Amino acid sequence: MGLIGQNYESYKSRKSYKSYKSYRRGKNKMKVLITGGAGFIGSHLAEGHLERGDEVYIIDDLSTGSMENIGRIKGLSNFHYYLDSVTNHHLMAELVDLCDAVYHLAAAVGVRLIVESPVKTIETNIRGTEVVLHHAAKKRKRVLIASTSEVYGKRDQVPFGENDDLVMGATDKGRWSYACSKAIDEFLAIAYWKEKKVPTVIARLFNTVGPRQTGRYGMVIPNFVRQALRGEDITVYGDGSQSRCFAHVTDVVGALIRLIESQKAVGEVYNIGNDREVTILELAEKVKSLTGSDSRIVFTPYDQAYEEGFEDMLRRVPDLSKIHKLIAYQPTVDLDEILESVIDYQRSELAASHAAACASETPAIKAAISLR
Ligand SMILES: NC(=O)c1ccc[n+]([C@@H]2O[C@H](COP(=O)([O-])OP(=O)(O)OC[C@H]3O[C@@H](n4cnc5c(N)ncnc54)[C@H](O)[C@@H]3O)[C@@H](O)[C@H]2O)c1
Repeated sequence: MGLIGQNYESYKSRKSYKSYKSYRRGKNKMKVLITGGAGFIGSHLAEGHLERGDEVYIIDDLSTGSMENIGRIKGLSNFHYYLDSVTNHHLMAELVDLCDAVYHLAAAVGVRLIVESPVKTIETNIRGTEVVLHHAAKKRKRVLIASTSEVYGKRDQVPFGENDDLVMGATDKGRWSYACSKAIDEFLAIAYWKEKKVPTVIARLFNTVGPRQTGRYGMVIPNFVRQALRGEDITVYGDGSQSRCFAHVTDVVGALIRLIESQKAVGEVYNIGNDREVTILELAEKVKSLTGSDSRIVFTPYDQAYEEGFEDMLRRVPDLSKIHKLIAYQPTVDLDEILESVIDYQRSELAASHAAACASETPAIKAAISLR
């Protein structure tokens, strides 16, 4: 079995999936540091580099990431993990010094976390980026900063181009603190390039999904799939007419690897994602049908789901022409395949937790169950 796990492997072979190995440009192996490497995207990125034979260091405080995410790679000799905060200056100085390039993914992520813990969001996102760039500046190490489509804010003209104006909401609406903190990260990265010649590149990620993404912090696809598989109500926030575009994590990781290797990308901002739109109600219906679930689709007002006065964007579509021109990027995994990969993953997680629960039953309970 490969690094990624059985379901994912079978998904990859079904899909004539492009190996990360094909993204290798130079002959030399790289040493990369991934902050947030035990997170959803970070763990896939680590696997991408390992598949190419690179040496991977990660640092993660496990605030939203998990050891399970790196379970299959943590024993490999060219993989090194540090369970610590990106704000630990001493450790970061050493790790950045060791590596050729740094992906900075560690951040407070997810609408629920942002609304509930705004101080943590702002501090983690800004301080962490300051630390990364400060240490990268010593030897001008290459840095990729993971930003977000949230920085486009309330902009209502789609698609969003990298040079478009950003339209932020009022500062008393907690959700905008995430977008603003990431926008500050972008300013900082560009300033380090302009003033100190640190080769930085910014990836503005649109909704990225796939196996291992958790629904705990408000991510829509893992939540819908979990609800559908358990026969719970599928909860659509608002009236479901808001639309999003979803990219599979393998497409995104491939783009990140090629971006950090591109000389031309330095000092630039790139959208990464998928430009196929789907409304959230259509998404709920698709999940229900692909899982064969009897769940009802129900609607919850935003005020109840998050906080009073919560503002959401109706549409969010990336203009992908800039990244397409640079690295011929185009998403290869369509929405049905994305959903199938998440459904496969969650089904196997459910089966594993069911098996674990059965194994932990006392002999008396097991006997009672087998008599039923
Ligand atoms: N998934 C998406 O759709 C999406 C969209 C836009 C942007 N992004 C960006 O991509 C990056 C990765 O997101 P993800 O979806 O994998 O989320 P994630 O929550 O799985 O990953 C973030 C990781 O950072 C770690 N972390 C948080 N604070 C830390 C700290 N102080 N020190 C060390 N580690 C810390 C978390 O434990 C987690 O493992 C984030 O920067 C996020 O803003 C993601």
